[in-house]
Amino acid sequence: MLFQNLGIVVQGWYPFGGRGCTSELLGDSVISEIAGAHGVTSAQVILRWNLQKGVVVIPGSGNPDHIRENLDLFGFELTDEEMGRINGLNRDEKHDWY
Ligand SMILES: NC(=O)c1ccc[n+]([C@@H]2O[C@H](COP(=O)([O-])OP(=O)(O)OC[C@H]3O[C@@H](n4cnc5c(N)ncnc54)[C@H](OP(=O)(O)O)[C@@H]3O)[C@@H](O)[C@H]2O)c1
Repeated sequence: MLFQNLGIVVQGWYPFGGRGCTSELLGDSVISEIAGAHGVTSAQVILRWNLQKGVVVIPGSGNPDHIRENLDLFGFELTDEEMGRINGLNRDEKHDWY
């Protein structure tokens, strides 16, 4: 059962893995390949994947170019197959050190 089906809005914090820990997700080969197919960045694919899942995603950035990039998410759409490939990266691991 998805939370969204219960009318619950889900927020996604630190979508790139968190400050200082972004290399694994931004360097992931599946995400990079999908980004290349759309002519966008891995960061944009991660954010777009969240939005298409109905997640209110909250990236952090102190870089104006990154902030603009992170807002520029509405000129492309991930296919069902691409969404499925990214969903398939799930390892059922808790990712939280706060
Ligand atoms: N309420 C809570 O308990 C809670 C818990 C966790 C997180 N949060 C919030 O969630 C937000 C995000 O967390 P976060 O900043 O730790 O993690 P994050 O969004 O996963 O990662 C931020 C890192 O990604 C880099 N980045 C951002 N956009 C990028 C892009 N387009 N390309 C390449 N690198 C990019 C940033 O570097 P640059 O600065 O160089 O762009 C920064 O190093 C923050 O506002 C945080 O406060 C809240």
